[in-house]
Amino acid sequence: MAKVLVLYYSSYGHVETMAEAVAEGARGEGADVTIRRVPETVPEEVARASHFKLDQAAEIATPEELADYDAIIVGTGTRFGRMSSQMAAFWDRTGGLWAKGALVGKVGASFTSTASQHGGQETTHFSILTNLLHHGLTIVGLDYGFQGQLSNEEVAGGSPYGASTIAGGDGSRQPHQIDLDGARYLGAKVARTAAKLTA
Ligand SMILES: Cc1cc2nc3c(=O)[nH]c(=O)nc-3n(C[C@H](O)[C@H](O)[C@H](O)COP(=O)(O)O)c2cc1C
Repeated sequence: MAKVLVLYYSSYGHVETMAEAVAEGARGEGADVTIRRVPETVPEEVARASHFKLDQAAEIATPEELADYDAIIVGTGTRFGRMSSQMAAFWDRTGGLWAKGALVGKVGASFTSTASQHGGQETTHFSILTNLLHHGLTIVGLDYGFQGQLSNEEVAGGSPYGASTIAGGDGSRQPHQIDLDGARYLGAKVARTAAKLTA
């Protein structure tokens, strides 16, 4: 059974919802799945004033625990076309793991959320995947076996680089069925890949 970590940062809950769908997909393949958040770096009064979602149940991750998993699936909302500073700050604490090659050979993947359709999802995936590649993870994308990403019938996330959703400028759009299906597909594929690579 592969041990899968879903590691996310979410200010307003869209990525949190996607993280749960990613986890569901991985569990469906029999993986032992843990969902963790990275620490908030914004002062609490600023987070409250900005209406951040502060009731997220996932426990806070430590960099050291990354070594305990066979796969790490990383999700964060887009910030100016790249990962959030909260997620980057977490990965900036993993130099010791990098020096030991502690994550080499694990499986990695990315998911994200933007306000708008062309607000930088793919570049955000690459900012996440860049970190994972430096650590030696083997990357799994959202292959075209997930046909939902080919639909032009409605606004939807998903690309070969990872799962995604679109929150809208005011955050009012919640992840749609196609977005959640893409997240589940990605979680399932990572779990299957990790199970094969660790067999
Ligand atoms: C500082 C900042 C920068 C942002 N940059 C972008 C951006 O480049 N493109 C975009 O579409 N959305 C951008 N957004 C919107 C967020 O990506 C959006 O709020 C997020 O995906 C919602 O996910 P969450 O509910 O999990 O926090 C930005 C938001 C903030 C606060």
